[in-house]
Amino acid sequence: MTIIKAKGFILRPLKTSDLKGYFEVMQDEETRRNLSSFPGTLAEAKKEIKEMLKQVKEDDSEVFSIEVGGKYAGNIILQHQDWDKNSDEGRVHTWIHPKFRRKGLATDALTEVVRYGLRKKFKMIYAQCKAHNKGVIKMLPKLGFEKVKTHKVDGIPRILWVKER
Ligand SMILES: CC(C)(COP(=O)(O)OP(=O)(O)OC[C@H]1O[C@@H](n2cnc3c(N)ncnc32)[C@H](O)[C@@H]1OP(=O)(O)O)[C@@H](O)C(=O)NCCC(=O)NCCS
Repeated sequence: MTIIKAKGFILRPLKTSDLKGYFEVMQDEETRRNLSSFPGTLAEAKKEIKEMLKQVKEDDSEVFSIEVGGKYAGNIILQHQDWDKNSDEGRVHTWIHPKFRRKGLATDALTEVVRYGLRKKFKMIYAQCKAHNKGVIKMLPKLGFEKVKTHKVDGIPRILWVKER
C-alpha cells in the first residue's frame, strides 16, 4: 500500500471511514456537474467505497485519499486503462472536498500521483473531463498533460488528456 507524504498533505489508501467526507463531496453541486455519475444516498456512497476497495484488490487500482491536517480532503484514483491489469497505460480521476478547493490541492496531489504512476507503473496516463470543467482545463496543461481530443461520450462533450513518461 503506497503512502505519499508531501508538503501540506498525505496521500494514503482509501478507508471505509472516509465515507462521510466522500458523501459530502458527492452531494456538492459542482461535483455533480463535473462527474459522470455520483451516489445519491449514503448507502450508495458506502457501496461505491466497497466497490473501489474491491478494484484495489482485484484490478490493481490505487485509490488514494488526500488528508490535510488529519482530515479527509478528497481522492485520486490511479488505475489501469480499461481496468486491464496488463495495460501499461494508466488513468487518473480526482475530486476534492469543497472545503479544500481553490488552494492548489488538486494540482499538488495530482502532481505527486502522476509522478509516482509514471515512475512505477505506466508509460502514459490519461485523464478525461467534461468540456466545461474550467478547473481541470486550467490545471492539466500545467502538469504536462496534452489534449488528445474533444469527443462526445454518452452525448456529453469531453476532453481526453494524456501525459507520457
Ligand atoms: C476540479 C477540482 C478537482 C479542482 O480542485 P482544486 O483543489 O480546487 O484545484 P486547484 O486549487 O489545484 O486549482 C487548479 C487550477 O484551476 C483553477 N480552478 C479551480 N477550480 C476552478 C473553477 N471552479 N473555475 C475556474 N478555475 C478553477 C484554479 O484557480 C487553478 O488555476 P491557477 O493554477 O491558474 O490558479 C475540484 O474543483 C473538484 O473536485 N471538482 C468537482 C469534481 C471534478 O470536477 N473532478 C474532476 C473530474 S475530471
